[in-house]
Formats: sequence, structure tokens, C-alpha cells
Amino acid sequence: MSKSELLKGPFVTFSGGEGSGKSSILERLKKEYPEIVATREPGGTPWGEALRQPLLDHTFNPTVWAELYLFMSIRAQHVADVIIPNTAAGKVVISDRYMQDSYAYQWSAKIGEHWPADLFRMAERAGFPNPDMWLWFDVDPEEGLRRRRQTMEINRLDQADLEFHRRVREAFEYLLGFDPYVHTGHRIDANRPIDEVYEQVKTLVAPLVEQSKGVVRRA
Ligand code: TYD
Repeated sequence: MSKSELLKGPFVTFSGGEGSGKSSILERLKKEYPEIVATREPGGTPWGEALRQPLLDHTFNPTVWAELYLFMSIRAQHVADVIIPNTAAGKVVISDRYMQDSYAYQWSAKIGEHWPADLFRMAERAGFPNPDMWLWFDVDPEEGLRRRRQTMEINRLDQADLEFHRRVREAFEYLLGFDPYVHTGHRIDANRPIDEVYEQVKTLVAPLVEQSKGVVRRA
């Protein structure tokens, strides 16, 4: 194994439907492990954060391709400015949403393409790293939308019908089905009480945080 591989910190992503609680879980993890570099998509860089607002604004109605490429564009900058430099420095990076969400929301639920290879090949060509671990926060779509509406954070994508959110859920399930071969994806039952979900996530993430501490110390 090369020195640069030894110094690389783990890259983890959180994905899932609306109202799955993954953002609160990440916030809590960051409090318990301040060394985690917590970031998000769409966003993550000043430029990406500026584009987040129009991208999620329900008064616009871009085509799915316009939407997909904007998510990918924001991601390209996020990879270059945040994900690669921090993992290269041996830090553990957790991104709230990533490629898996573009697959579930745009590629599968909107475009209707289920085979992921073409989308992921484009990501690979662009140098987007594969996460060392990705968690799918699986919440029942009805429950997720109910939770989201209570918090009044309604965005354009939240307003799509329940059917759409069911397709998103099926897409994540399908994508995870590819994963037994690489063992990087995990389903988290996000219907359970938040404390239980947190413990489940912590069991998976804590060893990576410990591992990254070792990497940073060695560097
Ligand atoms: P956000 O308010 O951050 O939702 P959440 O807290 O549930 O993550 O809004 C992000 C929205 O963007 C969410 O509806 C999912 C969607 N999205 C895509 O459709 N494709 C993508 O590639 C990404 C990263 C997000």
C-alpha cells in the first residue's frame, strides 16, 4: 500500500428520503466527534451554498437534466475543495447527501433509468471518490413527509407527490442491492426513535473516526 493511501482519511456519505433525520444525526455526531469534517450537498463550498437556494426553490421548474447537472456541478467543486483535500489530510469526512441521492432522485425516480452504471461512470470519470461507507437512512415515505411538513422546511422537491417519494425509496433499495459485492452500503432503519438511530450510526462511524485519528497522528 502506498504512503498516500495510508494517509487517506475515510469518506462517508449519508443518503435517504425526506425527513429521515440524517442531518440531525450528523449534527450530533459532529458534537461528539469534533474532528469530523461535516459537509453537505447541495452546498459544501461557498459557490455551492449560493447555488443551493435557487436549486431548492419551488418557484423554479428546471428540467430534470438541468437539475441533475447542477447537482453534479456543485458536487465537482465540493469534491475538489472539501472532500479530496480533507481526506488527503487523513480526516474523516461525512457528507450529508452525495451521488447516491442523484441516482435515487434524478436518475431513477425522475428519469426512470434504473441501471446505475452510466451515471456512476460519469462520476468516476470526473474523479468523484467512492465513499468508503454510505448509509441509507430508510424512512417510510409517508412518515418522512409528515415529519418534514411539521418542521415547515418545505422545498420544491418535498412537494412532489408521495408516489415520487416511494420511487425514491425503491431506488435506494435497488442501489443497496448492488452493494453486497463491495460492502460499502448499510441500511439504517430511520423509522425508529432518533436515539436508537444515533446509536446504530455511531456503531458504524466511530471505528472510522478512531482509524482516522491514527492516520492523522502518523502523518
Ligand atoms: P435538504 O433541505 O438539504 O433536504 P435534507 O435535509 O432531507 O437533505 O434538501 C436537499 C434536497 O435535494 C432533497 O430533497 C434531496 C435533493 N437532492 C437531489 O434531488 N439530488 C441530489 O443529488 C442531492 C445531493 C440532493
